[in-house]
Amino acid sequence: MAQMQTPKYVLVTGGCGFIGSNFVRWLAREQPTVRVTVLDKLTYAGNPENLAGVPGDRVHLVVGDICDEALVDDLVAHADAVVNFAAESHNDNAIADPEPFMRTNVQGTFCLLEACRRHGVRLHHISTDEVYGDLALDDPARFTEGAPYRPSSPYAASKAASDMLVRAWVRTYGVAATISNCSNNYGPYQHVEKFIPRAVTNVLCGRRPKLYGNGLNVRDWIHVEDHCAAVWEILSRGRIGETYLVGADGERSNLQVLQEILRLMGKDPGDFDWVRDRPGHDRRYAIDAGKLARELGWRPQHSDFSAGLAKTIAWYRDHESWWRPVKEETEARYAEAGR
Ligand code: NAD
Ligand code: DAU
Repeated sequence: MAQMQTPKYVLVTGGCGFIGSNFVRWLAREQPTVRVTVLDKLTYAGNPENLAGVPGDRVHLVVGDICDEALVDDLVAHADAVVNFAAESHNDNAIADPEPFMRTNVQGTFCLLEACRRHGVRLHHISTDEVYGDLALDDPARFTEGAPYRPSSPYAASKAASDMLVRAWVRTYGVAATISNCSNNYGPYQHVEKFIPRAVTNVLCGRRPKLYGNGLNVRDWIHVEDHCAAVWEILSRGRIGETYLVGADGERSNLQVLQEILRLMGKDPGDFDWVRDRPGHDRRYAIDAGKLARELGWRPQHSDFSAGLAKTIAWYRDHESWWRPVKEETEARYAEAGR
């Protein structure tokens, strides 16, 4: 299938969230000729401050919903590519209330696909390794692009459904779309509901971090900037209709990650609380990113996890005014769930 030209006018949905805002910052720095429109509903997870400092001639924020057909149609008509980061992204929230996940992740992707189909616009859809379910801790296998879809949580099922829509719209209508499925990201601007920022900000405000279950679940960590660079490579040079897995060989148990955070923050390795497990908790994710390396030459630059973690901790220490306003309400939600 055909490859496309480097896009100049990019619609970034969910560009006020963690990865989307890092992507907009990355574009402003690395691709200065690209102009960006961000479409973001500004849910609890979206913060316009995440785009502060990006020059106003490079990015324009539209506050709105990817399920709003008329708005999406108008914005897509004026773009030459769409990158869809907009989603409900947190597993614990989906367990408590899956409805917004079905709406934004499934209905919203449908709405974007239909607009891209009407206007012949390129789409890159951001997805997750969670669509492949989990691996046993002692299984030498890693996920590849051909792995069967086996989502185990409401969040993962909603992302799997969105990927299936994209694949069907490529095949049936010839929509020029690609998909990437990435592993766990870390870095600045991640909401304090997520594991690493939650643990770091707990320590910063004198609370003990919480470890789910037996702490042996494995996640495959990648620095958010490496994910952003991969998305750009796929958007500008990827083969239409293809899926690319994105990961940085970063497998670690949650216990290892938490103890590294505690060490870097000068705490005792036992300074945390064990809490009850997440229902249906996936055991292990592991990505084989060989296709992305072979086809597009992408390689992660942040290969030293401890160094990346230390910088991330420093960012949260220096940006208390960013996370402090939502810390108490986030912890109140966790207290209700007993985690
Ligand atoms: P996030 O929760 O930090 O940000 C999501 C953003 O989408 C927010 O700005 C929110 O306001 C916006 N949004 C939500 N619903 C919307 C709607 N209906 N219309 C418009 N905007 C809406 O999420 P994130 O961690 O940055 O994840 C971004 C994408 O990457 C998601 O699709 C997620 O599934 C995927 N992903 C995340 C990770 C990770 O480790 N965080 C890993 C792999 C894939
Ligand atoms: O794998 C990619 C996925 O990574 C993305 O699709 C999701 O959007 C993103 O949220 C992330 O999902 P996880 O569920 O893996 O991330 P989370 O940060 O919620 O949790 C990481 C691990 O840490 C998980 O095994 C649960 C555990 N955990 C989490 C929290 C918040 C704890 O042990 N303690 C905690 O306080």
